Amino acid sequence: MPKTIDDLSTPCLLIEKERLEANCRQMQARARAEGVALRPHTKTHKMLSLAALQKSHGARGITVAKVGEAEVFAAAGFDDICIAYTVVGAEKSARIAALAPGISFCIDSLEGARQASAVFAGLGRTVRVLLEIDAGYGRCGRTWDDPSLVTFARHVADLPGLALGGILTHEGNAYQPHQAATVMAEARDRMLSVAVRLGDAGLATRGRFVISVGSTPSANVFRNAHRDGFSITEIRPGNYVFNDLTQVNLGVCSFKQCALTVLTTVVSQHRGAGGAVRFFLDAGRKVLTSDRAPLSDTYGQLLYHARTMAPHPHARLTNLSEEHGWGAVRGGSTLTVGDRVRIVPNHACVVVNTQDEAYLVDGDEVLNTWRVDARGHVQ
Ligand SMILES: Cc1ncc(COP(=O)(O)O)c(C=O)c1O
Repeated sequence: MPKTIDDLSTPCLLIEKERLEANCRQMQARARAEGVALRPHTKTHKMLSLAALQKSHGARGITVAKVGEAEVFAAAGFDDICIAYTVVGAEKSARIAALAPGISFCIDSLEGARQASAVFAGLGRTVRVLLEIDAGYGRCGRTWDDPSLVTFARHVADLPGLALGGILTHEGNAYQPHQAATVMAEARDRMLSVAVRLGDAGLATRGRFVISVGSTPSANVFRNAHRDGFSITEIRPGNYVFNDLTQVNLGVCSFKQCALTVLTTVVSQHRGAGGAVRFFLDAGRKVLTSDRAPLSDTYGQLLYHARTMAPHPHARLTNLSEEHGWGAVRGGSTLTVGDRVRIVPNHACVVVNTQDEAYLVDGDEVLNTWRVDARGHVQ
């Protein structure tokens, strides 16, 4: 077991325990203040240890994206899992049926609903499904103001083996700069208007019907509201446990709230064309990924030194090749070959998915090794 981060082979992932726990506490407090359950999206970390920590902070159930992820968490004893994804295909429904009864998933097509119905009714079972709603993001889901929405919901509710338990949206359009509060309020109001229409049609029972929204930028500014006896019942942010450069640039958090960093080593340094000193890190696209952060031209924010967690004011990762990060420092670099630097990634969720494990740390000290248990379970 490595004792300090100097004992670790790079590149690797570090999770700052104190920051992680502060992020868990803060989001739990937000959920409590607005009278909603927090059902964190575990696609951000895919770790049983971290999901257990979220649960210990008060999370009510977890969210996953894929049936394969649900299988990993269910096998470890998690029994309240929402697959926030439109499940299509008899094979996937059969796998869900083999899990604990507390699993729900999303429906946005009659084809998907009929396939699931055939499997569950065939087994003499009933599964809870959530109608996915597009409240403005433009990805999956029935459009919130679609005049045929109630008819569609009735078709789903009438299918044997399916129980229409709620509606779900992901307001991913909250990732536009300065838009989170507006997008959140709009998504909330649109979801409540859908719930009222379904309630009036006898398809949603007040107090029992799940109304689920979620993203990290919007959860941070979420304010609940009540409409005809309905209110939002749960939020599903995921990224908030780690945060990343995207969240910093959107003004959602500060660097001090970024719990996940990539520890890398400077493996080369030389003067490039034009005389500027360039340095190269042992983390390239296969670790940092090519995701960009809004309002930024770097592939991650370098911290000044592995031990001092302050952002380096002049360093940028200008390019990535598969195994190398290409760095430049305006005004000259004090980095030398062998130095270790920590990087706040542009997008934490995809970076975690590149690794089998991450190290829980307290500054220099390595406290634990956490497996990325559901990594690769994308089916
Ligand atoms: C369906 C769904 N719910 C919740 C989330 C969590 O959002 P965030 O990554 O902003 O925390 C996502 C993210 O992609 C999502 O797709």
